[in-house]
Amino acid sequence: MQGLIYLDNAATAFPKPKMVHDFMYQFYQEHGVNPGRSGYDMCIATEEIVHATRKMLIRFFNGKDPNRLTFSYNASDSLNHIIQGMLQKGDHAITTKVEHNSVLRPLNCLERDGVIEQTRVAFDKRGFVDPEDIRRAIRPNTKLVVVNHGSNVIGTIQPIAEIGRICREKGVYFAVDTSQTAGVIPIDVEAMKIDLLAFTGHKSLMGPTGIGGSYVREEVPIRSTRSGGTGVHSAYPYHLDEFPYRLEIGTLNIIGVAGLNAGQRWLEEEGLENIHRREIALWEKLRRGLQQIDGIVTYCADSAEDHLPVLSFNVEGWEASDVGTMLDVDYGIACRTGLQCAPLVHEHLGTDKIKGTVRLSVGPFNVEEHIDRAIEAVMEIAAMKAKKR
Ligand SMILES: Cc1ncc(COP(=O)(O)O)c(C=O)c1O
Repeated sequence: MQGLIYLDNAATAFPKPKMVHDFMYQFYQEHGVNPGRSGYDMCIATEEIVHATRKMLIRFFNGKDPNRLTFSYNASDSLNHIIQGMLQKGDHAITTKVEHNSVLRPLNCLERDGVIEQTRVAFDKRGFVDPEDIRRAIRPNTKLVVVNHGSNVIGTIQPIAEIGRICREKGVYFAVDTSQTAGVIPIDVEAMKIDLLAFTGHKSLMGPTGIGGSYVREEVPIRSTRSGGTGVHSAYPYHLDEFPYRLEIGTLNIIGVAGLNAGQRWLEEEGLENIHRREIALWEKLRRGLQQIDGIVTYCADSAEDHLPVLSFNVEGWEASDVGTMLDVDYGIACRTGLQCAPLVHEHLGTDKIKGTVRLSVGPFNVEEHIDRAIEAVMEIAAMKAKKR
């Protein structure tokens, strides 16, 4: 939309790089057939792009076997695979209060149905989980620890490598939700001792919606939770154990895979560090600007260290949704308000009682002027309330 200042990149990255649009369009025109099903040239070429994208992504996460990189609809889909495919009757799982509903709900459903027990570890005043709390929560029947790498509400990046070390030492499988971090900061499944990882394509990996996936380390006993066509071994009556088929059913979203392929090339060209440095500098400007305004409360935004360019705040006296509407209608600024699908973060911060927060999130196509305009807008909204008091 003309003139829109888009500060809702934690919901989905927008806009996407031109080369992603171009490649998707060209790929679907030239290779829009069902990969891995037949032996004609176009089909083989399509399968090659799918495999090349697995290779790019497995390299990106520093895994080994490209077939352990499986595609799904999005992070929620993969987190369901991971949680339902790993946990069985009598298991205990550990997670945190910083999680998105994509982790909370699959775990809650298993708990409600009497399959598992779970422990949810809190976060501190600055928004970080203490790895030692995870260690303390481990029981003899703990099978899985699931942790959000970066919060979509408060923006804190959790100490994943330390948690991974504890899990490996204790023989507990470690799953990480990288929805907000993949494509933002380097992720190394070997160094961080990650056994299972879920990613989504439409955020900082710069792909379209409807594509995501997971990485599962060799020797991790994940079960397939759904069955269907794979294009190979059609006479076999059950779903295949072999990767990538174990976690993939039916025809892949190949246009989504193509988007991820181009997204990877764009990230490589731009450089992850360069993008993050630019984004976090804008976030820092936003944070300082908002924190100087009377009547503004920011949440867990003390410093840029171990932080994503995501900022949650409230204007005293206003409901978050009112501020969001004013930002949109009066100033043309797109943001997200409410509980942002992470109710326990708000419960822990006490912001559940005031209907959540306003969240501004910076992306690779934001510039200083956007931040200046956002600060000015919030300043005017806060001043309006102060006058009424
Ligand atoms: C931390 C986190 N986890 C999971 C998800 C779910 O991602 P998707 O909607 O792409 O499945 C999101 C999306 O906002 C998220 O921020």
